[in-house]
Amino acid sequence: MKTEETFVPGLKGVVACETGISLLDTEREKINIRGHDLIDLSQGKTYADMVYLLLEGSLPDDREREKLEKKLKAHYDIPENVMEVLEMLPENMHAMDGQRTAISVLAGYDDKIDDRSISVNKERAYELLGQLPAITVNSYRILNGKAPVKPDPELSYSANFLYMITGKEPTDFQSKIFDSSLLLYSEHEMPNSTFTSRVIASTNSDMYGALSGAVASLKGNLHGGANEAVMRMLKETDSVSGFEQLMKTKLEKKEKIMGFGHRVYMNRMDPRALVMKESLKQLCDMKGDTTLLEMCEAGEHIMKEEKGLYPNLDYYAAPVYWMLGVPIPLYTPIFFSSRAAGLCAHIIEQHDNNRLFRPRVKYTGKELE
Ligand code: COA
Repeated sequence: MKTEETFVPGLKGVVACETGISLLDTEREKINIRGHDLIDLSQGKTYADMVYLLLEGSLPDDREREKLEKKLKAHYDIPENVMEVLEMLPENMHAMDGQRTAISVLAGYDDKIDDRSISVNKERAYELLGQLPAITVNSYRILNGKAPVKPDPELSYSANFLYMITGKEPTDFQSKIFDSSLLLYSEHEMPNSTFTSRVIASTNSDMYGALSGAVASLKGNLHGGANEAVMRMLKETDSVSGFEQLMKTKLEKKEKIMGFGHRVYMNRMDPRALVMKESLKQLCDMKGDTTLLEMCEAGEHIMKEEKGLYPNLDYYAAPVYWMLGVPIPLYTPIFFSSRAAGLCAHIIEQHDNNRLFRPRVKYTGKELE
């Protein structure tokens, strides 16, 4: 078969690899994570449970959960040199760039760097996941001229993460909503960043390199960067009518509206967005001001009517983070931090059953002379 006959722009619908980690099951309209539906998991399980499920293959029992939380906490602190490198970066770089740089630096502290065995890779993943809240928050803080903050090991993983972000110990309600956003973001089959990490891992490159590539992929606004873009768009106005007008103007100018559309969920709403929409409703009700929810709903209505497009997770995660007091430049780094659980599972799987990715091209250049 000639290579151009198999060319699919953007690899839409192309099956890139075998995996036992997750599947967007479009027939049953479920997000299958190792045999569990992600939306069901979001109704009672925690992000830490997801980490265990992704890395160990099953949900933890109480003893395993306790052990996991201790393990993550044992890795909360990051080497002082990583902080020093962050201090040396030019101010106002995006926190994603800080995150990417810090992950690269951590490679230098791994004395088993050339060991790709499942057991070593898993321990490496737990260590990185423990370190990510401090890396994420301090990348943002240092790059914005703020003093770094230390994790609080007395708090749960998500409560500590949110505490480091806002500087205030969150209520159980706030922690639960933040935790649920992390759970929903943690794994989603084969988006660009996961593909990127597997492509890098397929050369036998290490987990730090594969994750650094994934940060760069996730930064783009067609992928993870959409959540920040959504909030910036919502902040352009403070009324429902103003937002409706803004969306209509953007559509007239043929601009893409961030937070809408998805390569896989084409004719329905991303089920994860529905969970976050409910969280937004609860947060707005608690505040006694539902304007932000009404603005989002108005935007959702316009996009359905005008373009037949539905919200993705980023559309509702953004206003939820806003209501939780998260600075906008941290939205995508938080997404990455959470997704790192799924990415590590994919990197481990790729290393364990590897075939080098090396596709072909449809050549559009000059013919040979
Ligand atoms: N706003 C306006 N129009 C959109 C749109 C959006 N958010 N998403 C898709 N479209 C339109 C495109 O302009 C295109 O129209 P055309 O055929 O008239 O040119 C058509 O729908 C197909 O879009 P395309 O970008 O080719 O689809 P895709 O499957 O490659 O892309 C996304 C999927 C997610 C990249 C795309 O929907 C998008 O850019 N969304 C906004 C960014 C976003 O929210 N990303 C997070 C994804 S989880």
